[in-house]
Amino acid sequence: MDLYDAMRCAPTTRRFKADPVSTEVLVRALDNARFAPSGGNRQGWRVIVVRDAQSRAALRDLYLPRWRAYIGHADVARAAADLASSDPARARMLERANEYAEHLHEVPVHLVVGVRLGDLAVTDAQLPRQSIVGGASIYPFVQNLLLGLRAEGLGAAMTTLLVPAEAEVKELLAIPEEIAVAAHIGVGRRADPWPRALARKDVFEFAFSERYGEPLAQ
Ligand SMILES: Cc1cc2nc3c(=O)[nH]c(=O)nc-3n(C[C@H](O)[C@H](O)[C@H](O)COP(=O)(O)O)c2cc1C
Repeated sequence: MDLYDAMRCAPTTRRFKADPVSTEVLVRALDNARFAPSGGNRQGWRVIVVRDAQSRAALRDLYLPRWRAYIGHADVARAAADLASSDPARARMLERANEYAEHLHEVPVHLVVGVRLGDLAVTDAQLPRQSIVGGASIYPFVQNLLLGLRAEGLGAAMTTLLVPAEAEVKELLAIPEEIAVAAHIGVGRRADPWPRALARKDVFEFAFSERYGEPLAQ
């Protein structure tokens, strides 16, 4: 698959077939993802491949209440239905995201991505705002992995709602103290056709010339 095609069409997959995913395919995606950059090339990423049915159910049980709290509605399907006429695209996304949350245990493979905290170079830690640089040593790897999975024809959903449940996730999966949970990725064969185009902003809405806000001429 051409790199740009993968970048333009690696959507969040929220409905999966039950087909198994071989370790060989996962290792191939991981083997390519590992060439991601990281501060000082410390490569602090760790990945746990979870297939065990009980563990997947336990992860669903941790995810679901946090998903409902995030949406701010115990009945998310109802919230989606209420939005259907005013914002159908958002309503559809909410419906799918809710279906994903409720059926998380059925997603064939769960990848829990962690990072060794000692390997993060957090250069903005002293700024009087929330730090974002720590993530820069793990999320390029996560994006590489998403693209690798896409190149293998696999669907994937990256979420971060399990991060606040890190203590429970770490206990469940025997993750050591020094590793932080960074992301959860549900992986499997996509149940729906791949979309032809993803909804994204135009380049000229976010890229500027010389000074912020100055149009970038082509
Ligand atoms: C940091 C992050 C957190 C996300 N969390 C969730 C989530 O909790 N639930 C969910 O269904 N999708 C989640 N997503 C997926 C986004 O909703 C998705 O990338 C966005 O809507 C664009 O969708 P598309 O790639 O299918 O076009 C998350 C994505 C990112 C990057």
